[in-house]
Amino acid sequence: LTGQHGQFGFVALLIGLLVGSSLLGGLIGVVQSYFSNRISQSIMFDLRNQLFDRVLKQSIAFFTATRTGDVMSRLSNDVNGVQSVVSDTIFSLVNNIVILASTVVLMFALDWKLTIAALVVLPAFLLPTRRVGKATFQARKATQGKLAEMTAYMQETLGISGMQLVKAFVKQVAEITRFRKLNDELRRLNIRQSMIGRWFFMLMGVLGTAGPAVLWLFGGYLVVTGQESLGTVVTFATVLLARLYGPVGSLANMQVNVVGSLALFQRIFEYMDLPVEIDEKAAAVRLAAARGEVEFDHVTFRYPSRDRPALKDVSFQIEPGQLAALVGPTGAGKTTVTTLLPRFYDPQLGAVRLDGLDVRDLSLESLGQQTGMVYQDTFLFHATIRENLLYAKPEAGDAEMMAAAKAAYIRDFIESLPEGYETVVGERRRKATSGDRPRHPQGSARLDPGRGHLQSRLGVGAPDPGRAAAPLSRTHLARYRPPALNHPGG
Ligand SMILES: Nc1ncnc2c1ncn2[C@@H]1O[C@H](COP(=O)(O)OP(=O)(O)OP(=O)(O)O)[C@@H](O)[C@H]1O
Ligand SMILES: [Mg+2]
Repeated sequence: LTGQHGQFGFVALLIGLLVGSSLLGGLIGVVQSYFSNRISQSIMFDLRNQLFDRVLKQSIAFFTATRTGDVMSRLSNDVNGVQSVVSDTIFSLVNNIVILASTVVLMFALDWKLTIAALVVLPAFLLPTRRVGKATFQARKATQGKLAEMTAYMQETLGISGMQLVKAFVKQVAEITRFRKLNDELRRLNIRQSMIGRWFFMLMGVLGTAGPAVLWLFGGYLVVTGQESLGTVVTFATVLLARLYGPVGSLANMQVNVVGSLALFQRIFEYMDLPVEIDEKAAAVRLAAARGEVEFDHVTFRYPSRDRPALKDVSFQIEPGQLAALVGPTGAGKTTVTTLLPRFYDPQLGAVRLDGLDVRDLSLESLGQQTGMVYQDTFLFHATIRENLLYAKPEAGDAEMMAAAKAAYIRDFIESLPEGYETVVGERRRKATSGDRPRHPQGSARLDPGRGHLQSRLGVGAPDPGRAAAPLSRTHLARYRPPALNHPGG
């Protein structure tokens, strides 16, 4: 700085290094954050995929017993909750352990007595950590449970079926009250969860002060009695202790987070560990094209949630090409019969056979391709009419699709729409009917004339549902209600 070139060059080099190192530090930060994001997002990606696969393999019984919103909440809220724990933990765990280990080694090298004095308070950090971890676990479990309850509630109420009920019975005020209550409980649980963390931080702060106090006291004694230099004690009590307690505090905090997040993992793995009840055998038979002979052989079936069987020792046979109608009072088990053929459920006794083969011996895919269903209540995906029509057979061409539409008597209607087959139709779900559940007297209410029309033509009341679906899904047996038998209970 005195004006000599050589010296200035050196200063410039230093400044250059300073800027360079901060640039390098920044770049390392970016790379580290990329990897931590990449790793945690990939873990979530895998969790979501595996969870979705597992849920999709569940039997219809699972979906009847589980609220859709609960499943959705586990897939989204619980998996998302795991993310912060995973991304925060991976790198800081390594970081903190390295700092901690190097500091302890350095301390022992300087003075083992002071080191022991510094370590004496550490168990005080660990004791509350266990308890706080447990409390956080319980709190998160309750919060995520409530969140799932709220998701399920919203999914039911805001869905078209729920909303029709709400509007029809003018229940808006009651529903708003219910939502407020759930929302209020969620707020309370979230505050409780945050406060557990807050108390914990306070405790850590107190320990962070108490630790040096012990050391000052002991170090002071050593200095006064001439066993240790003042410099070493000051170094211990300030720099080294901060380097020791910092990582210990972070690790304790991390442990609380990890233990707390086990509540989320528990919820995720509750579904991940569900057994697959309806599965195909290792040596499942592929049935290329069924002739269509259906046989029920002494079939007894009881729904898992019921004590009494829905079907008791049922035997019958339907020949290929024969049109069969199941007729009986509500709750007799007509719908149940139709669910056993595509293996929505498996009977407890007896066998269901297609072309003489037990359906449990067939591959699920080929069984699905041999059976078609036209439901009383039709569900359309939020997609174009084309996509809905081609759901069972995406490879079908335009001609085949139009022939199917014509057979179902909806071709003219679809083609009269401004956007024709590209018209987007919406979600309109109905629960699978169960015999004694009360129904809307009007059966399938049609509030939206356009969609209702399409609905009715695709499903309920199609003059020949069997034939209508045939070109697309090779339906053999469908529930068929002859117009003469068409009663609201059907
Ligand atoms: N998902 C289910 N879980 C438990 N029990 C069920 C379920 N579905 C139907 N049931 C019961 O099984 C019995 C047969 O019902 P099913 O729906 O097969 O009758 P159904 O003949 O189709 O009646 P409906 O004419 O009203 O459609 C009834 O007692 C019904 O309550
Ligand atoms: Mg029925």
